Amino acid sequence: MQFMFITDLDNTLVGDEGALAILNQKLRQHREEYGTIVVYSTGRSLTLYNELLTEQELLEPDYLVLSVGTVIYPRGSTQPDQSWNAYLSSGWNRDQVVAIASQYHDLILQPTSEQTDFKVSYFLKETVAQEMIPSLEDALAEKGLDVQIVYSSDKDLDILPKQGNKGAAVSFLQKMLNMTGDRTVVCGDSGNDLSMFQQATAKGIIVGNAKRELREWHAAQLSKDVYLAQAACSGGILEGLNHFGLLS
Ligand code: GLC
Ligand code: MG
Repeated sequence: MQFMFITDLDNTLVGDEGALAILNQKLRQHREEYGTIVVYSTGRSLTLYNELLTEQELLEPDYLVLSVGTVIYPRGSTQPDQSWNAYLSSGWNRDQVVAIASQYHDLILQPTSEQTDFKVSYFLKETVAQEMIPSLEDALAEKGLDVQIVYSSDKDLDILPKQGNKGAAVSFLQKMLNMTGDRTVVCGDSGNDLSMFQQATAKGIIVGNAKRELREWHAAQLSKDVYLAQAACSGGILEGLNHFGLLS
């Protein structure tokens, strides 16, 4: 049957070239036969996504979700979905977010390409993160800023509008495409993928090489809808798709 396949890229879809080639071939065939929808949902900006395309053989996705769920490109479009942008802009004040965050000297600004209209990104060392993040959260809330902080892989800190992340982007696509939760599968390995497992109604695959933050979350909940794979990257995705009986 047709389903919507949504995957993170770095260390999820990408990381094991042999398994990726097998998965690509299966997905290509499934898309041709059943109209399965392929979505990439990455933290990367368009600049870094295009860089990855020069290094890896990837299927062209039906939707490309960039910058941690804050930019959505339908296939063939040179413009991101404007209704999603409009939704994200409500209550978001980027300048104020930057003004407050810049008072924290442990936050190191990421490259300009990764700073987008609805995402402000820094590097932050794991050793100071636990103490600093709650304080930053408080400072932002005190100014009435309705945002969320997403910390991934013990190094990347993103500040996003409250209503926008990878999980919210999944729900947006489900609604637009009329796709139910049991016909949606999301795959990921790190903190910025957590919202897809937590918020979206979908089946989930956590790849075997997942980071601590996802493993800890998985260990603390009992959902049968989230599968923790043994194999890494695309190998883990193949394992999970078989587990859910989605790719046959
Ligand atoms: C990607 C993005 C970066 C972000 C990270 C985690 O690496 O390039 O800006 O912080 O994902 O979401
Ligand atoms: Mg990843």
